[in-house]
Amino acid sequence: MKTVAVIFAFVGTVLLVAYGVLTYYDNQFPFARMWETPGVWPHEEPLLVMKDGVVPFSGGEAIYRSLPMDQIRSPIPLDHPDHILLGQKGYHNFCAPCHGPNHDGIGTVGQSFAPLPTDLRSEKVQAYSEGEMFKDISYGEEGKRQPPLATTIDMTTRWQIIAYVRSLGLRP
Ligand code: HEC
Repeated sequence: MKTVAVIFAFVGTVLLVAYGVLTYYDNQFPFARMWETPGVWPHEEPLLVMKDGVVPFSGGEAIYRSLPMDQIRSPIPLDHPDHILLGQKGYHNFCAPCHGPNHDGIGTVGQSFAPLPTDLRSEKVQAYSEGEMFKDISYGEEGKRQPPLATTIDMTTRWQIIAYVRSLGLRP
């Protein structure tokens, strides 16, 4: 019986000393332990007040999306040669896989679509207003297969591509 008590006392002492040493070691840490993370509660600190001009109230995609197409005007001159040249680059990046290198609707990817991609030199497309074409390529058209590309192509490039597509009608 006495031996058991001695063993208990010994083990107890060893555990206490180990605990003391570990606690001391922990307290000497220059950084906190992972389990001591600070609690962050919502709204503990006052919300920051936004500076003027941070939230846009004009321009941007949402405005175009909500406007009817006859009220949409290009912010860039569509007949400017520089824009047409950049639009050509954009066309070959984003449209040619479907509408084809010759704008006739014969592109590699486009062949799996029914109906096939529209011939962009056609009278129908060339008669589109700038707003109509912008809406078509940006947001697609209900029930049609043109993909909405607003989140794929930035806005200026979309307008430049429209400048380029329109310039196709000027050539023989
Ligand atoms: C993933 C393939 C694909 C890509 C990429 C694509 N198109 Fe199309 N596009 C189509 C298809 C298919 C149609 C035919 C839509 C229909 O009649 O249902 C079409 C139709 C159109 C039309 C006629 C819309 C109408 O109302 O009939 C225009 C204009 C057009 N595309 C321009 C573009 C331009 C410009 C680009 C590049 C920014 C582009 N497309 C990228 C597949 C594509």
